Amino acid sequence: MSTPLFSELELGALTLPHRVAMAPLTRNRAAKGNVPHDLNVKYYRQRASAALIITEATQVAPKEQGYPRTPGTHSDAQVEGWSDVTDAVHEAGGRIFLQLWHVGRISHSSYHDGERPVAPSAIAPEGEVLTPTMEMVPFETPRALTTEEVRAVVEQYRQGAENARHAGFDGVEIHAANGYLIDQFLRSGTNERTDRYGGSLENRLRFLQEVTDAATGEWDADRVGVRFSPLSVFNDMHDDHPAETFAAAAGVANDFDLAYTHHVESAEPKPPVAEKGEAATVFGGMREAFDGAVVANGNYDADTATDALERGYADLIAFGRAFLANPDLPRRLREGLPINVPDEDTFYQGGETGYVDYPTWDDLQNGAAHETLHALHELTPRG
Ligand SMILES: Cc1cc2nc3c(=O)[nH]c(=O)nc-3n(C[C@H](O)[C@H](O)[C@H](O)COP(=O)(O)O)c2cc1C
Repeated sequence: MSTPLFSELELGALTLPHRVAMAPLTRNRAAKGNVPHDLNVKYYRQRASAALIITEATQVAPKEQGYPRTPGTHSDAQVEGWSDVTDAVHEAGGRIFLQLWHVGRISHSSYHDGERPVAPSAIAPEGEVLTPTMEMVPFETPRALTTEEVRAVVEQYRQGAENARHAGFDGVEIHAANGYLIDQFLRSGTNERTDRYGGSLENRLRFLQEVTDAATGEWDADRVGVRFSPLSVFNDMHDDHPAETFAAAAGVANDFDLAYTHHVESAEPKPPVAEKGEAATVFGGMREAFDGAVVANGNYDADTATDALERGYADLIAFGRAFLANPDLPRRLREGLPINVPDEDTFYQGGETGYVDYPTWDDLQNGAAHETLHALHELTPRG
């Protein structure tokens, strides 16, 4: 029987066998030099039955990280490490995009040889950051990038996109969500610039435009996606007019004919955002502004995912925590099987534990021990 969740999708240049994608998930398990290694190869290979894997956020430049042991895509060793990952995923029949990342102000001087992190404007986020020596310390006030420096950062994204090509990825996702650098330029709460990158909405969009232009210089546009989180307050984010800002941001994706826009919704339980309130306006407006495929993410289960696809609200659903804990998630959803519970204590640490030791359904039938839930919607929403 064909259900919307298990029907094919033409996503830009790719044909996906179904609609259960793996959302990007930072796992802090790169080797020395922030190089992907065998452990990461194993993790991604295990999840190759995803319609599309979007990798964990991956820094495009050496210092532009804000968490320990996150992988990069700027050194030869990293490109080699990622090549092993893409080979493994392809051998297992999967498809994989690299998520291009620059954290901006969500960092600390200990990642920058003592210099302050950079951002569109010198506005410190509320909260704390984890240093490379695993201490939680308050965020510092970042230094505003000069106009010239912004151009240099665009070049870093271009290089990252080129390196992703050398590493054998099927495409790239521009990370414009969750309060990192591009989002900091987009939203009014973090961008008080007076040059061509700030002030008016048109100017706040310019950095996204230039990064997208750089990425589509390295890749055909039908292999490039972009991720937005218009209503998320994570990383102390705020925008005065999210419906307007993000319809215009989706319009940028449309101008470049990107393969997809990826929408991070709230972690609130569904029924979903599509139906009412500010979220309906914001996500509806983004859908209207973009002619390509929409990937929806945020606390979906099989029923709400099917509903979103049937109503034309989205074309592909990305699952984060559920994919983290269930390497064979598409099968579990297709067959209505219970799922493994994600262990939050090992999201960002733990080596092999909580990373490559989640059992498949077959492992469970063969006696592997794991506590299972009866339905995906019982997952605790993320704070
Ligand atoms: C452990 C963890 C790491 C994450 N890392 C990233 C990341 O690297 N890039 C990103 O865009 N979102 C990241 N997210 C957000 C997820 O992609 C997703 O939006 C969120 O988990 C909600 O989806 P879910 O309800 O299906 O888990 C992360 C979330 C978690 C739980």
